[in-house]
Amino acid sequence: MVSDKPIEDEKVDALVEAARLSASCNNNQPWRLVLVRGKAALDTFKTSLSRGNAWATRAPMIIAVAARVSDDCDLSDNRHYFLFSTGLAIGQLELRATELGLIAHPIAGFDPLKAKEILGIPQDHVVITYVICGYPGTDDSLLSDKQKAIEPVRPIRKPSGENFFLDKWGSPYPFKDSAPAPQI
Ligand SMILES: Cc1cc2nc3c(=O)[nH]c(=O)nc-3n(C[C@H](O)[C@H](O)[C@H](O)COP(=O)(O)O)c2cc1C
Repeated sequence: MVSDKPIEDEKVDALVEAARLSASCNNNQPWRLVLVRGKAALDTFKTSLSRGNAWATRAPMIIAVAARVSDDCDLSDNRHYFLFSTGLAIGQLELRATELGLIAHPIAGFDPLKAKEILGIPQDHVVITYVICGYPGTDDSLLSDKQKAIEPVRPIRKPSGENFFLDKWGSPYPFKDSAPAPQI
């Protein structure tokens, strides 16, 4: 859960810096981030959240993450790197947020066409994710009953043999992974 406590400007700058320094194919840096922080802008932008993400309406900042295929390497056999490079940058931002005591929660539950209209994002860009940013909170009143039930425990991951292989596709990597994902 996220609280409505404002995030200090220096911490927002640190998040930007973490993403800015991320690796990308040919250093193309295809990511475009709109940091929505102003009250009026946020109120309007939050109307594009899906109902299941009502919990995110408390956040003091939401980052809209967009990119387009032509801004990054586009190589043989469907290797469209713009999504990968952008995902890496957001991964760096998430790690930095965690270091700073913040939540940076990516979501796919939003209306991308509305996001483009509200923020003026060009049509040829894909709005890949929103990152819900803020300090952790304890008020769960905006969660559905289902969300309240799953929130306290991190969901179980697939057994590693299903998606980690040794030497050949389909040969399970023998990782000793009976442990659940650690609680944070
Ligand atoms: C691409 C992506 C989209 C996601 N979309 C949503 C979302 O719309 N709403 C939500 O509450 N969480 C969303 N999540 C969070 C995941 O549901 C969550 O990371 C996953 O269940 C694993 O839980 P954990 O991060 O606590 O280990 C999303 C995560 C990713 C990476």
